[in-house]
Amino acid sequence: MSKKKKYYLCLTCGSGFSKWSGQCPDCQEWNSLVESEQPSSALKQEDLKVIPLSAIASSSLKRIKTNLEEFNLVCGGGIVPGAVILIGGEPGIGKSTLALQMAQYFKTLYISGEESSSQLRNRAERVCQEMENIKISSNMAVENIITLVKQESPECLVIDSIQMLYSVEIPGVVGSVSQLKESTVKLVKLAKKTDIPVLLIGHITKEGNIAGPKVLEHLVDTVLYFEGDYSKDFRILRSFKNRFGSINEVGLFQMSVHGLEEVKDKNKIFLNLFGSPAPGNAVAASLEGSRSILFEVQSLVNFTSFPNPRRMSDGFDLNRLILLIAVLEKHAGLKINNYDVFINISGGLRITETAADLAVAMAITSSLKNRPIPKGIGFLGEISLAGEIRPVFQVNRRVSEFKNSGFKKIFIPEANKREVSSAEFTGEIIGGENIKKAVDYLFG
Ligand code: TYD
Ligand code: MG
Repeated sequence: MSKKKKYYLCLTCGSGFSKWSGQCPDCQEWNSLVESEQPSSALKQEDLKVIPLSAIASSSLKRIKTNLEEFNLVCGGGIVPGAVILIGGEPGIGKSTLALQMAQYFKTLYISGEESSSQLRNRAERVCQEMENIKISSNMAVENIITLVKQESPECLVIDSIQMLYSVEIPGVVGSVSQLKESTVKLVKLAKKTDIPVLLIGHITKEGNIAGPKVLEHLVDTVLYFEGDYSKDFRILRSFKNRFGSINEVGLFQMSVHGLEEVKDKNKIFLNLFGSPAPGNAVAASLEGSRSILFEVQSLVNFTSFPNPRRMSDGFDLNRLILLIAVLEKHAGLKINNYDVFINISGGLRITETAADLAVAMAITSSLKNRPIPKGIGFLGEISLAGEIRPVFQVNRRVSEFKNSGFKKIFIPEANKREVSSAEFTGEIIGGENIKKAVDYLFG
């Protein structure tokens, strides 16, 4: 029998090498290589079979509806049996609460390595209507979890959190990439074999990665991020990847002493509909998956005390902000180079759509001139480098959101004006070709 070749695995990044070295050539970590078994490379005859795609029976996806409508929406209409769903979020944002609330409607096995059983019980008393269905364990070894699943045959498995998960068969400290990856692979196999949905909870780091390993994101079927503004009570569940539905879908929740409540009137949380108008605020509409949301851009433009004026943005791309400031200077004749500019999107929403450009530009102008934009005006439009207001897509879905929230006037790209049907918006529609026209209209 031929002698088995030696193989070395990095405990930090999970890369494999045929030679040992003191420093991992991939992640540069010192003393992280350990001898390990080489993955089998022997091919079996059945590995060489292919199947015509058309020969596979088509099946429609079954979906399990939870009582949390917003959660169903983000998952694409409910949880698909055997789906592995990763919920990421910063510590304390409410992941465990969400998982527990969802779990109560199934016969659930809840594996918690983070909280004691009495802490879980106390939380369940606050947030669950019924807790008879839930069984808990604090055993975080994946081999034991698999045995527990066979023994209990639950309808749903929750792992809180993946950072505590480990496999006794793999070398490496708990929380290392190789441990995380291999343990997750085992759970994915379990989910596919048994059709039990698995909910993995993962803390994310400041950089926004689920504790470093991006590797997990492609192992699982669905990646959801739970986010929100710490100073406020509402939370957004956002789908980042979904093999069973569209991405960029958002679910909206409000925190309470009895756990997360679903938000029905979504614009209430992002808009200050009843306050008096203040300089620096402008409202736009963004499309988030199948729903449209109104949000407020808040801006503060202040004479600078720094040699280089500061530009800061929360919820909007900083480079885009710098570009819009340059466009306002060049094409609307505003002098902003001696001013600090701060931008905030209300409610902790993160806007990636260029359709928000016009609202950002108007918020900045309003703060610079210290003149409020009257209540009830909505803005839509992408701004080009030449200062033109470019059309936005799906304009009717956005303007109908303005109508539903009682907006009487909208300022939109001239090129979109013809598209807006009277059924979608009954108020006054002003079309603008360029940024100068918008500034003159509001502040001229
Ligand atoms: P928790 O679910 O433990 O956050 P994570 O698992 O993401 O670290 O929630 C953090 C704290 O907030 C916890 O003390 C419970 C509390 N909380 C509520 O009181 N009501 C709520 O609706 C939520 C979501 C959390
Ligand atoms: Mg938790």
